[in-house]
Amino acid sequence: MVVPYKHEPFTDFSVEANRKALEAEIKNIEADLGKEYPLIIGGERIMTDNKIEVVNPANKKEVIGYVAKANQELAEKAHKVADETFDWWRKTKAQFRADILFRAAAIIRRRKHEFTAHLVKEGGKPWKEADADTAEAIDFMEYYGRQMLEIDKGAEVNSRPIENNRFHYIPLGVGVVISPWNFLFAIMAGTTVASMVSGNTVLLKPASSTPVIAYKMMEVLEEAGLPAGVINYIPGSGKEVGDYLVDHPRTRFVSFTGSRDVGTRIFERAAKVQPGQKWLKRTIIEMGGKDTIVVDKDSDLELAADAITYSAFGFSGQKCSACSRVVAHEEIYDELLDKVVTKTKESVSYGDPGQHDTYMGPVIDQAAYDKILSYIKIGKDEGKLMAGGKGNDSKGWFIEPTVFADLEPDARLMQEEIFGPVVGFTKAKSFDEAIEIANNTDYGLTGAVITNNRAHIEKAREDFQVGNLYFNRGCTAAIVGYHPFGGFNMSGTDSKAGGPDYLIHHMQGKTTSEML
Ligand code: NAD
Ligand code: ALA
Repeated sequence: MVVPYKHEPFTDFSVEANRKALEAEIKNIEADLGKEYPLIIGGERIMTDNKIEVVNPANKKEVIGYVAKANQELAEKAHKVADETFDWWRKTKAQFRADILFRAAAIIRRRKHEFTAHLVKEGGKPWKEADADTAEAIDFMEYYGRQMLEIDKGAEVNSRPIENNRFHYIPLGVGVVISPWNFLFAIMAGTTVASMVSGNTVLLKPASSTPVIAYKMMEVLEEAGLPAGVINYIPGSGKEVGDYLVDHPRTRFVSFTGSRDVGTRIFERAAKVQPGQKWLKRTIIEMGGKDTIVVDKDSDLELAADAITYSAFGFSGQKCSACSRVVAHEEIYDELLDKVVTKTKESVSYGDPGQHDTYMGPVIDQAAYDKILSYIKIGKDEGKLMAGGKGNDSKGWFIEPTVFADLEPDARLMQEEIFGPVVGFTKAKSFDEAIEIANNTDYGLTGAVITNNRAHIEKAREDFQVGNLYFNRGCTAAIVGYHPFGGFNMSGTDSKAGGPDYLIHHMQGKTTSEML
């Protein structure tokens, strides 16, 4: 029997011993900088001539590592291995697969600060965000292991005196897992281990800006007893390797988390039945957001300002769940805006994420930096700049926490995903109008409502169309097993990562009926 699931606690860095422990690991990481990381195909380490250079976004000159880059030939080799491995892996006991995850979670927990230190460097994450990313990776392993044991019990179906009926779930086949850089550990690990523990074999293509943490996870899974060939590590170009794997006729499902552009492309390509393909590919596609916090006139404005500031600027706004829009009732708009601007200027320190008191670090790369600054330029035409607005890419990719006021609900700044530390304010005449505005984007991932009005909570519960809706708190920081996560509309397929239905998306139901 395993102990009941409980989420991994966050580290309290106000405790000196914890601070010292992470500081020591950040120093230790320096010995590993610039190392080379091979592909892992069927357990074999394969180094390529072509490599991905991975840098610290807070210090572009600091090379985290050089990672081998798969091409189509190596992707084909990995696919073949995964396909052959599936033949026997699909028949392994759920308990065997779950035990690998419980062991892996225990290994990571014992070396928690080492992983967190790595995320500070590779992802440019401030301590608190990096610690939460490590905790979430552990949570996914613990939670999906237990979920698999539940599913393995089978579901009740009726039998009759002359027939014995059974219903249970079986795995699908070879899964292609394509992960983003923002939750470089948690989402990469969660999507990979969910696919594996449900009995599938996996081709893991992590994001090119953050592939090293995926290699480190592979080492942990191997140490925990994962057999060769079950998960194959093949970083590479999204276009070259990604398209090839998605189109492959032997790919059975694709689990993607990332941008809307790439997600819709994968959705279309996976829908095309290729010559020799024997199934319709399953797609689990989780994409971007344009997440709104609605602030009612009868509400705690201090709480609202804290919720907005953290949801907008935690990890530099680079969360699919980040608050990038505030819709405030006109009666409290000015007071709320003033509080958020003051907090942004006074409390959101930004700079080196390696320092424990840094609230906000850099953005991930030059492309993100340029894109965010181009939106700040648009914002200056569309609204009123109240805080921030500048960038500095001399050492790393730093952008000030930025607040815009007086935007129209349909302004580009209020409609398009910026994925950076930029939040826009707009005004509503009533609560009903605020919910209408909140729903006026193509997305539907997260949202929050700050109100003391019970009837308004109930209205939002029914009418605010997002996959994760929070009351009287911010719109980020879903916890595995507590807040199943996934979005509506152009935010994705709402597969609800970290929820009780998630693994089923990686499986198919089989009914057997024996005449007695
Ligand atoms: P991205 O779409 O640029 O990249 C995601 C992954 O797709 C990467 O591994 C990339 O290499 C790969 N890729 C690129 N082109 C491809 C192709 N043609 N075929 C196959 N794979 C391809 O996204 P990103 O910049 O890494 O991540 C940020 C985005 O992810 C944001 O839009 C954010 O909102 C979203 N996101 C969503 C969730 C969620 O749960 N809904 C969680 C985290 C991030
Ligand atoms: N799970 C992450 C959050 O809720 C994306 O912020």
